[in-house]
Amino acid sequence: MSDLAVIVLAAGRSRRMKSRLSKVLHRIAGRPLIHYPMRAAREAGAERIAIVASPDGREVIESYAADAFGANTLHIAVQDPPRGTGDAARVGLMALEGSGARRVLIVCGDVPLVDAASLEALVKASTGGRLALATCELPDPTGYGRILRDEHGRPSEVVEERDLRSDAQRATREVNAGLYCSAIEPLARALEELTPDNAQGEYYLTDIVKLFAGATGAETVDVSRDAMLGVNDRQQLCDAEQIMFARIARRHREQGCRVAATARIDDTVEMGADCSIADGVHLRGSTRIGEECFIDVGCVVTDSQLDARVRLLPYSVVSASHLGSEAQLGPFTHTRPGTELGRASRLGNFVETKNTKLGDGAKANHLAYLGDGDVGPNSNIGAGTIFCNYDGYSKHRTVIGRDVFIGSDSQLVAPVSVGDAAFVATACSVTEDVPAGALAIGRARQVNKPGRAQTLRERLASQKAENEAKKRR
Ligand code: UD1
Ligand code: MG
Repeated sequence: MSDLAVIVLAAGRSRRMKSRLSKVLHRIAGRPLIHYPMRAAREAGAERIAIVASPDGREVIESYAADAFGANTLHIAVQDPPRGTGDAARVGLMALEGSGARRVLIVCGDVPLVDAASLEALVKASTGGRLALATCELPDPTGYGRILRDEHGRPSEVVEERDLRSDAQRATREVNAGLYCSAIEPLARALEELTPDNAQGEYYLTDIVKLFAGATGAETVDVSRDAMLGVNDRQQLCDAEQIMFARIARRHREQGCRVAATARIDDTVEMGADCSIADGVHLRGSTRIGEECFIDVGCVVTDSQLDARVRLLPYSVVSASHLGSEAQLGPFTHTRPGTELGRASRLGNFVETKNTKLGDGAKANHLAYLGDGDVGPNSNIGAGTIFCNYDGYSKHRTVIGRDVFIGSDSQLVAPVSVGDAAFVATACSVTEDVPAGALAIGRARQVNKPGRAQTLRERLASQKAENEAKKRR
């Protein structure tokens, strides 16, 4: 186990979010905010993770982090009440006591765009008992702590916006990114010396900079503007998510996929090479996309698996479904949870499926509801077919064999089965099982009455005239 740990600060009140949910649990690109700094710290070599949470946020944050990063390297500390970032860091250090950690990264839970390389640079810069802190020059430093430097250009102090003392300080554009690295021993000593004599009456972590500067020294590391973007309100949440989506798209492009400018792919999604993802597509959750898939404009795919060479035509919605290789859907298909499509099967416009399996090469090309069904290989479901799966109390299954033809506008009243190679005529209400190879006709026989069309028209016209005359009277 490495001697480097990370403390993630996540116990703040997050008033600016105006939300009941803890700030660090708000999601961007499919993961809670807090996931990203933890992952970056792991990649930078920090094995042990100490999270400082509020009493309210503790349970959810702990179970999420244990799932995502492993329970046995996780230390949860509760800060109650939130008395500032300095107090939070002290609480986090206590949780690491006896863990064997000797150096520590401190990151805020609300900086999702921080990257491993920036944290590695901090670790490198913090040798010899020095504090390393990340800084950045911003055209508009509003809201951030400002870095003051001594006559030798060394960082001497961080002043929070509310505590700025002069115009010269206000003009400083170098800001504190909220990312630090230090050996634990001098850090613990500095944290003990903090006092809450500032505009907010809090223990500021930033005050350790002055203390280190007067002792073993402090050093700054330049980081990019994105890496330090803090999410304090809904606008910043939106800005951070935009940048995250752009990063994810770039990653998939580097791996050989075409990803259009306005596609949004969650960080959780996996995708094979040579896929083509059009504008307005959203790929979400635990979705896995095989090689050479083509996903056209406006499709939304959630928690689904697409095997190789699946084609989704525009505006299809695919949820918790498994689409076999070369399946083709859309435009405007909706596959709901429990849909499993065989190889080279097809669903066309306005077809909805739920909890239904289609065998290899099976088709339903137009306007159908296929709920709670099994359709065998190479069977063809005609336009307007409905699996009547629900009687108002329970759901029942429709089971269709292989090579079956279901004529257009048929209803299959479940529970019902249609055997292999059977043929159901158009516009049937199928209420009884159809044996294999049978032709089923379940509708009234047609009657033609020669010449009666004209008689009928005359009768209808005179009725209409009579009604209009009545209205005028
Ligand atoms: C902090 C820094 C500021 C820096 C900015 C960068 C301080 C005093 N200020 O300001 O210099 O420019 O980050 O984004 O550190 N938290 C706790 N317990 C608390 C208070 C906060 O755990 O008692 C956590 C929050 O949940 C959050 C993080 O610490 O994840 C930072 O707190 P926040 O209130 O966002 O600080 P800023 O005002 O952004
Ligand atoms: Mg903040």
